[in-house]
Amino acid sequence: MMGRLLSRIPALLRAALVVVGIYLAATAIFSGLLGQPIPASLMTMYMFFVIVGVFMAFTFTEEGARAMAAPIRALVENPALRPVRNIVFLLVPLAAGAFTYTKMLPSLEAPVELRTIHPAPPSTFKAYGKRYDLLTLENPFRKYEKEDPERFRALVAEGGKIYIRNCQFCHGDKLNGRGPFAPALNPVPLNFQDVGTIAQLQESYLFWRIATGGPGLPEEAAPWISSMPVWQNFLKEDEIWKVILFLYDYTGHRPRAWEK
Ligand code: HEC
Repeated sequence: MMGRLLSRIPALLRAALVVVGIYLAATAIFSGLLGQPIPASLMTMYMFFVIVGVFMAFTFTEEGARAMAAPIRALVENPALRPVRNIVFLLVPLAAGAFTYTKMLPSLEAPVELRTIHPAPPSTFKAYGKRYDLLTLENPFRKYEKEDPERFRALVAEGGKIYIRNCQFCHGDKLNGRGPFAPALNPVPLNFQDVGTIAQLQESYLFWRIATGGPGLPEEAAPWISSMPVWQNFLKEDEIWKVILFLYDYTGHRPRAWEK
């Protein structure tokens, strides 16, 4: 009874039903019984083998192959099916075109960029033709903060001048990362007022970043597109140390220090 009913259904439709049945069963087993979502790529792979398998089973005999092809032949050859044929011949290219078009639409999502803002510094680096050891490097002017406050104020003021002449275009005249160039830059110039930037760092780290700029960033800070200039090409060594004094003085942050 069931067998006879099945044999009434054209072979091609039967094959399609088997494929759909296997698909539904697989999703039911995975997400229903096991409670696990199946990755789409895995499902595509499964269904590829299912379709190939079903096609092979249905075309195993000469007779079976003919039965599978029968509806397609009829569609092309049978004059009575002409209106259906015209519709199918119109729909198939349209569907293919629509599918290709949706694949070609640009995605408006921002590309994922996992950029490390504060990469681990190297233990030593080269600048001004010398090698610096970041573990022992210190700001030579920091000691005047206690020893000679007047001299310290003068050094901070010099640092301020250097900052306004060189840095505010990007990092802003309020040191908040909103300089006039900032809107055009990605990654954005960092906001030194924020507790997440220089307040977390040692002066030696800042010296390394300022002297070597965006090109000095290590591998994990990819994609190295930072516009931060290489200041060793434009400033003297002690000018960098002075500008560092200014950054901390103006923002009121304290540089991180090694725990004693
Ligand atoms: C052309 C724009 C531009 C100029 C000019 C510029 N910077 Fe930058 N700076 C950046 C950008 C963009 C970043 C963020 C990307 C990065 O870390 O390299 C940055 C990052 C930094 C950092 C790293 C801070 C952190 O928390 O890691 C320091 C320090 C810094 N700049 C100091 C300076 C100083 C000092 C000057 C002036 C002597 C200066 N910058 C001038 C664009 C600029």
